[in-house]
Amino acid sequence: MLHGECRAGRGGAVVEILLVTGSTRSGSTNTAALRTALEAAPDGVTVALYEGLAELPAFNPDQDTDSLPAPAADLRGRIASADALLFCTPEYAGTLPGSFKNLLDWTVGGSEMHEKPVAWVNVAPEGRGNGASETLRTVLGYLSTDIIDAACVRLTVPRGAVGSDETIEDPQVREGLRDVLRTIAKHVVG
Ligand SMILES: Cc1cc2nc3c(=O)[nH]c(=O)nc-3n(C[C@H](O)[C@H](O)[C@H](O)COP(=O)(O)O)c2cc1C
Repeated sequence: MLHGECRAGRGGAVVEILLVTGSTRSGSTNTAALRTALEAAPDGVTVALYEGLAELPAFNPDQDTDSLPAPAADLRGRIASADALLFCTPEYAGTLPGSFKNLLDWTVGGSEMHEKPVAWVNVAPEGRGNGASETLRTVLGYLSTDIIDAACVRLTVPRGAVGSDETIEDPQVREGLRDVLRTIAKHVVG
């Protein structure tokens, strides 16, 4: 497994969802939400956490060739083999963190995102983080992904809610994440 990948899920998995954080911060609320989703996966869903964000080089169109830098090739391969993607990103300066936009830029030159079912969870308090969601919608629209609106929700996670195991105990957040994964899976299965 690459980049410290974690996998979870229960028997008879049919839908594989790749979880992608937009934060590189240790103790990140966004990454904690996705780690919690690893534990909250309902039956029939397998989830994997992508943890290579900080290893991606700065996007350079000159390197967007058949021989991609290894981290970018890994990213595209992971996206290709997933049935759907779930993003969770903070807002920086009214938009997406640069490192996360960099990740998205590495996907533009490939076909992996085309019609890929996608959703995002916004963990910011009500009234905050909207710029990140709006920008994400713009970029994912540009990439011709299949945005699952019913699975794009806000589940506020205060910093103090992240436990020492880097997950969130709050049962409402856990149930909310399980619902999101269930909604994505239903959309994929059709
Ligand atoms: C450089 C920087 C810029 C930020 N800009 C915004 C912003 O424009 N709007 C906002 O709501 N929060 C902003 N924040 C707050 C972060 O979104 C917030 O701390 C979030 O919890 C970070 O996510 P994480 O816990 O996953 O690292 C900013 C934080 C940093 C470090």
